[in-house]
Amino acid sequence: MGLPITFDEAHKAFTIQTRNSTYQFMVDTYGTLLHLYYGRKTAGCMDFLLTCQDRGFSGNIYDAGENRAYSYDALPMEFPVFGNGDLRAPALSIQNHDGSLACDLRYAGYEIREGKYALPGLPAVYVDQEQEAAMQEAAQEDQQAATLEVTLKDQASGALCRLLYGVLPELDIITRSVRIENTGSASFTLKKLLPCSIDFLPGAYDVLSFYGRHGYERKLQCTSVRHGAFSIGSRRGTSSHQYNPLLILAEKETNEDYGSCWAAEFVWSGEFSALCEKDQFDSIRFQMGLAGEDFSYPLQPGESLYAPEVILSFSRAGLSGLSRNLHETVRRHVCRGYWRDRVRPVLLNSWEAFYFDFSGKDMIALGEQAKSVGVDLLVMDDGWFGERSDDFRGLGDWNVNEEKLGGTLSAMVEEINRMGLMFGIWVEPEMVNENSRLYREHPDWALKIQGRDPVRARNQLVLDFSRKEVRDHIFAQITTMLDSANIEYVKWDYNRSIVDVPSRDGKGRGAMLYDYMLGVYEFLERLVQRYPKLLIEGCSGGGGRFDAGMLYYTPQIWCSDNTDAVDRLVIQHGTSFGYPLSSMGAHVSVVPNEQNGRVTPLDMRFAVAATGGFGYELDRGKVSEEEKAVIRQQIEEFKQMAAFVVEGDYYRLTDPGEEEHAVSCITAKDGSEALLTAITLDNHCNNPVFYAKARGLTSGAMYENEEDGKQYPADALMEIGFPVPQSNQLVYRTYRWHLIRR
Ligand code: DGJ
Repeated sequence: MGLPITFDEAHKAFTIQTRNSTYQFMVDTYGTLLHLYYGRKTAGCMDFLLTCQDRGFSGNIYDAGENRAYSYDALPMEFPVFGNGDLRAPALSIQNHDGSLACDLRYAGYEIREGKYALPGLPAVYVDQEQEAAMQEAAQEDQQAATLEVTLKDQASGALCRLLYGVLPELDIITRSVRIENTGSASFTLKKLLPCSIDFLPGAYDVLSFYGRHGYERKLQCTSVRHGAFSIGSRRGTSSHQYNPLLILAEKETNEDYGSCWAAEFVWSGEFSALCEKDQFDSIRFQMGLAGEDFSYPLQPGESLYAPEVILSFSRAGLSGLSRNLHETVRRHVCRGYWRDRVRPVLLNSWEAFYFDFSGKDMIALGEQAKSVGVDLLVMDDGWFGERSDDFRGLGDWNVNEEKLGGTLSAMVEEINRMGLMFGIWVEPEMVNENSRLYREHPDWALKIQGRDPVRARNQLVLDFSRKEVRDHIFAQITTMLDSANIEYVKWDYNRSIVDVPSRDGKGRGAMLYDYMLGVYEFLERLVQRYPKLLIEGCSGGGGRFDAGMLYYTPQIWCSDNTDAVDRLVIQHGTSFGYPLSSMGAHVSVVPNEQNGRVTPLDMRFAVAATGGFGYELDRGKVSEEEKAVIRQQIEEFKQMAAFVVEGDYYRLTDPGEEEHAVSCITAKDGSEALLTAITLDNHCNNPVFYAKARGLTSGAMYENEEDGKQYPADALMEIGFPVPQSNQLVYRTYRWHLIRR
């Protein structure tokens, strides 16, 4: 059966074909891999794109003899290393046993096989048997998932490098990872390891990144690619609130609907770096991988290491098409388990209602309120365990505080279940307070550097999850709690950055943090295997670890601690570039908002939250009977539409961080229905009329607007849109059109 990957012996070129894109690289005369092409679908060999000329100060490999025109410093490289004359940013840098920085990888062979590779101990894009069968049945022969493995070797050090390429052709997805093995007789240290590096020929590009802070994550920034390096990354132990491991390169003038663009999204939750650098000849190098400056991993003879994978996608249909490729991939080929394809329960979380101050009775009363408005799941947030009466104590002691709850957890959960509600609970397994039994017994389990005082954050320290005995102890405590009652949801929190990392067995910060993350993944894997129906929601002070790595274990992540609907529009807009709506935990909370004091109408808060992992954070004392009736209706409305909203195609029509209206459209994949939402963010006297356009409707069809029962032509709605009613009232008016194809 034909696969989407081919090797052309004559040109020594590897070609990967997806539905709309082609990726190609070749083995040159000297056995080095040169990148040829990544872009719109094409056929043939693109080696005609290569140009060689004598370039001053760009050296030539020894084997090139007197040919001064052949320089790796000026050619597009498939996997640039430091040491063969390419003096741009390397993807791999090796420090040899003698301290020298040098590596020269030459081609040693390849393998093309069916199915997408997996990475031991690491999250990765997968294609399960059912999906594989469906692909084979529905698509043409060359539309099934496949893997290309290209082997390269550095003779001097014995570094054996396997470049891994995974292909999901239908989704225009290519993944890249690397395995490095020390086959030599002396140790060496990996100083840099970026599985993805792509060289683009000169052109005019923008780079899109997603920056922020705690409470305001993933705001879109578009920067023109100029000389020098545009780089983002994290040295915080996690992927971070500050920069998301997602970078998009777009041809100038690319918008949501048109233009060529490329995305790189890291399936990794730890420190990372990503870069977009325009070089001396105007070529652009686009990279993503493990943290640049801090990464360092020693490999003894016989040892090996995998780089986590990067998901790549290309779209000629603008940013919206690119996002939809990523959405479908993350939704179906990264997220796993029972909840992957199911509408998630509407939840009520206790955090903003009580913070740490609650009893079992309060929880039951909150449950009664929740049930009365149609909520499915009550979540008991922080404060239920050990001595946890505030955030100075208790983390690490995962025993239920029965005194506080006024009885056992199981008795409380039974009562909540009797009301017809599911029950969920909050944990923060990777953390410890010094004021805890765990810390008193095992002070050495926290990450600290001998002879130095650690930096505290939220009064807590981080447990060394690279150590199995630490993980086992916490796992035993948490599973004892989970086994004691009918718990169907867990919120997995993580509330600080990592500062103090000791060095052990010759491993410094980078290696320790790599092992730490593998430890977290191992723990999560054990949890998902043991409780296959448990819904786990990731969280790190909101969206401090919102990445495809975590989504492999937790199909939804609390998007931000900021629940203000206006800020959330910006946060969720940025998040939507790389992640599907189903992955974003979003709740309606009280006003004035507890994070920024803003007052927004309840219908707007609902419209903003009811697109993802939907729920409420309400203090029952602050909700009027009238509002409860509205909430009841909202939940009914959400449930009616949830299936297509969560599965549907998402279209961004405006940028709520920059424009006066926030407009988005969610359309069922078959075009049968759509939800168009427009929210007024600013208001002026005597405004021009603003039109909210729909997307993804069936051309030529008529659509009925549920609210007024009238029919509207799809093409006019997509071309011009609905006029958004003029209002001289306050801002934050919300208009929703639920359109059904007739
Ligand atoms: C940070 C989370 O983002 C909040 O929602 C809440 O769970 C607190 N932690 C609890 O400490």
